[in-house]
Amino acid sequence: MPTEYSSLQEKKFMHQDDWADGLPAIDDIIMGDLMEDPYPIYARAREMGSVVRIAATGLCLVTHFDDIIAIERDPETFSSRIPESNVVQLFGANLMRKDGHDHRRERQAIDPALRPGTAKRCWAPRLEAIVDDILNEVEPLGQADLFSAVAEPIAGRALIEVIGFVDLEWQTIARWSQAMMDGSSNYSQDSEPRLRALAAGREIERAVDLSLNQAGGPPEDSILGSMSRAGLSREEIHGNAKVAVGGGFNEPRDSLLSLLLGVLSDPVQRDRLLSDPALWPAAFDEAVRWISPIGMYPRKLTRDASIGGVTLPRGALIGLSVAAANREPERFVDPDRFDLSRPKVKNLAFGSGPHFCAGSWVARTLVGGIAGPRIFSRLSALRLVDSETVPVRGWVFRGPTSLPAQWTV
Ligand code: HEM
Repeated sequence: MPTEYSSLQEKKFMHQDDWADGLPAIDDIIMGDLMEDPYPIYARAREMGSVVRIAATGLCLVTHFDDIIAIERDPETFSSRIPESNVVQLFGANLMRKDGHDHRRERQAIDPALRPGTAKRCWAPRLEAIVDDILNEVEPLGQADLFSAVAEPIAGRALIEVIGFVDLEWQTIARWSQAMMDGSSNYSQDSEPRLRALAAGREIERAVDLSLNQAGGPPEDSILGSMSRAGLSREEIHGNAKVAVGGGFNEPRDSLLSLLLGVLSDPVQRDRLLSDPALWPAAFDEAVRWISPIGMYPRKLTRDASIGGVTLPRGALIGLSVAAANREPERFVDPDRFDLSRPKVKNLAFGSGPHFCAGSWVARTLVGGIAGPRIFSRLSALRLVDSETVPVRGWVFRGPTSLPAQWTV
């Protein structure tokens, strides 16, 4: 596994946009603007064309819903195999950056741990116990930041269970996940996040080995149990465990916080949801559409191809901006609004095609099925301290970074 970028690789990766000189470009924003609020920038890009160069990122983004669907239907042309990507450089080879048979083999190895049936039979009772345990501690406080007191421990303890780690604190998996996120979204190739992600990766490998080497092996239903039973090599298990750590913690955390923010910011919608619990699945879908926890992921062209009438060359690296597509006004009326009364329309928060999120059922069960309803039933008259000043940050990964709330004890 390559553990460091060489300066040549870095250069090649950053200059993928030579071919993109003729494309419409947004070159008057800095990375900080995207981190603060990418949605006005996405709205501009959608108007400008099917593929738009965002100079600050060195990437060309596809922002239209139908274009992304068409791309994901043709993985032979729009490949996930991107050896120079941050994810491969930092995590090692993994299923998310493979295609065809190589991808299917590893996906089939991980899937049994994450199927709807396993989520219901095996994970739901354990996740209920975790959520209750955390709420038992928080309920008497009467106020807390729901980011650190509720969403982080729920997401962390759930993921430790689902992956099958032993003797691990949720704070450790939170630190690893943040390091993996910062490393994989490090499109400006700064050295601090890269080194921190590599160090976290080595710690994850040791934790994987601890679980695999314990007497009796890893828990049978867990991701590690499932991959080990399927006969994946230690190296493959290491790479995929890092994807699960990187992708399985902050997205459930952020989707839970966005869901709470959306519901708590509007008393009418809150009352509607609380009087009709059948709306919880729709509330979860609307939260991940409204603030997509993963806003963008890359694909690479294996041959010349056209996207929305724009011809791109073989080797071009593009970013699929599912966050932008999820706010397309033609598909979602008043798209910037969190709205529980929206008609049920597919959104792209979990991606689409062969790499559609493997953990979507576990995330759905945890956030919309268990944590959301229990938070409202346990924290009486739950309200935000100030819904106007909640900080929401990020573009590759996005969510509220703090959610101070109060309730009646
Ligand atoms: C709200 C929560 C979540 C969201 C929005 C989300 C989103 C996504 C997206 C957009 C992808 C596709 C990335 C790409 O194609 O490059 C993906 C892939 C993946 N996700 Fe999730 N995810 C969530 C939760 C989880 C959880 C809880 C787990 C594990 C326990 C997980 C495991 C994975 C894995 C293993 C892949 C790679 C699938 C493949 O390449 O075949 N995700 N996720």
